[in-house]
Amino acid sequence: VIGGGGHGHGAVGDPASPDASAVSVTELTADPMRPADVHVELRARAERVTLPGGDGFDGYTLNGSTPGPEIRARQGQMVEVLLRNESVPGGVTLHWHGIDVPGAMDGVAGVTQDAVAPGEVFTYRFVAEQAGTYWYHSHQVSHEQVHAGLFGAIVIEPAADGADAGTGEVPPGEAPAAAADAVVLLHTYPGTSRTLNGVAGEVRHGAAPGAHVRVRIANTDSTPTAVWAEGGFRVVAVDGTDVHEPGLVEGRKVRVTAGGRIDLEVVVPATGAVRVQAPGVSLLVGPDDATAPTPPSPPEFLDLLDYGTPAPLGFDPERPDRSFAYDIGRAPGFLAGVPGIWWTINGRMGDDVPMFMVREGDVVAMRITNGSGEVHPMHLHGHHVVVLARNGVPASGSPWWVDSLDVDNGESYDVAFVADNPGLWADHCHTLPHAVEGLMTHLMYE
Ligand code: C2O
Ligand code: CU
Repeated sequence: VIGGGGHGHGAVGDPASPDASAVSVTELTADPMRPADVHVELRARAERVTLPGGDGFDGYTLNGSTPGPEIRARQGQMVEVLLRNESVPGGVTLHWHGIDVPGAMDGVAGVTQDAVAPGEVFTYRFVAEQAGTYWYHSHQVSHEQVHAGLFGAIVIEPAADGADAGTGEVPPGEAPAAAADAVVLLHTYPGTSRTLNGVAGEVRHGAAPGAHVRVRIANTDSTPTAVWAEGGFRVVAVDGTDVHEPGLVEGRKVRVTAGGRIDLEVVVPATGAVRVQAPGVSLLVGPDDATAPTPPSPPEFLDLLDYGTPAPLGFDPERPDRSFAYDIGRAPGFLAGVPGIWWTINGRMGDDVPMFMVREGDVVAMRITNGSGEVHPMHLHGHHVVVLARNGVPASGSPWWVDSLDVDNGESYDVAFVADNPGLWADHCHTLPHAVEGLMTHLMYE
């Protein structure tokens, strides 16, 4: 088994051919039984994996590789993924990280479905309503299964250039431009160094001089990382949502939260290439033989709190229907009967943490504070939240919409969202071992 099969040209799904023409996104949602535009089968196996560089580990594959195949859809299309568990002991699921799918499709074992046992199948179906960069991963024993290979990228392309932004209407017969973007999954497998799409070291992405290339980066590891490039770039999207009027970034690196995505736009120079660098791995964007030096890591992070320019949120966060505190700490106690020092939420742990209760249509405000001694990348399923303030300093840039947010020790974040997706939703730390060590609760609709 060879890793690294899941990127670039190996994409499955065919956003070009299906007939999604002249049908609005809303109409599509209204007919959940309509035929799939994008159909993918993913076969999960437990097996020995050997990465292209020679590193090997006992892990998991999807269709024989890790990362699994890149899935591509167009906004408005019906996506159908048949998950077949061929041999993963203990079962698997697929969670569509960052895509606000209907509750029953969220793939959380034990909550929205049972894990798919060896020999069984489960079909996921959802309309790709939000364009952007996302990823999928198993949500069964995820701290082990994701680490050891059960994940891949899913990209939803905008309905079409020139489509009606309000309705997502696609002009009939419109073919999308060839995918010139690059998809980058940063991942560290058991016992290996960090990889980029399953490859250690350097990966190439072909592009002509002068080309503007979108580099879609997902951090599939359990700890935060950073990316940077020389010559200036723009952060055009965060967690799948476009940044409003992103400025040129120079001399700064960009944090990529565990589970989070950052889309960079880089411009290929007239001669040479541009190197998008992360600790240990890089993507060289340019003509086939062109190269570029390794850019040194800038000491400072770009602050997304004041990056880009303001734009309407679409709701009023100043008048929330519900306000919650989400206070992260650490304390000795019993978690599911096991003694230890566990993460706590509002002083409680595990099943003792009350769910956050909302009603459909509520504007929800949440203050997340962290006094636990470590950073926690917090991830709410089924919703995007907008950052209003950090440590009391109000956000002043583009609306900073996230599904994965690093909350450092000693920090507090004010976030808000609209409860518009009824269901029972996990809300947990994406340093996945922390989620099983207590840093997991749920959002429930009354
Ligand atoms: Cu990406 Cu609950 O997870
Ligand atoms: Cu954590």
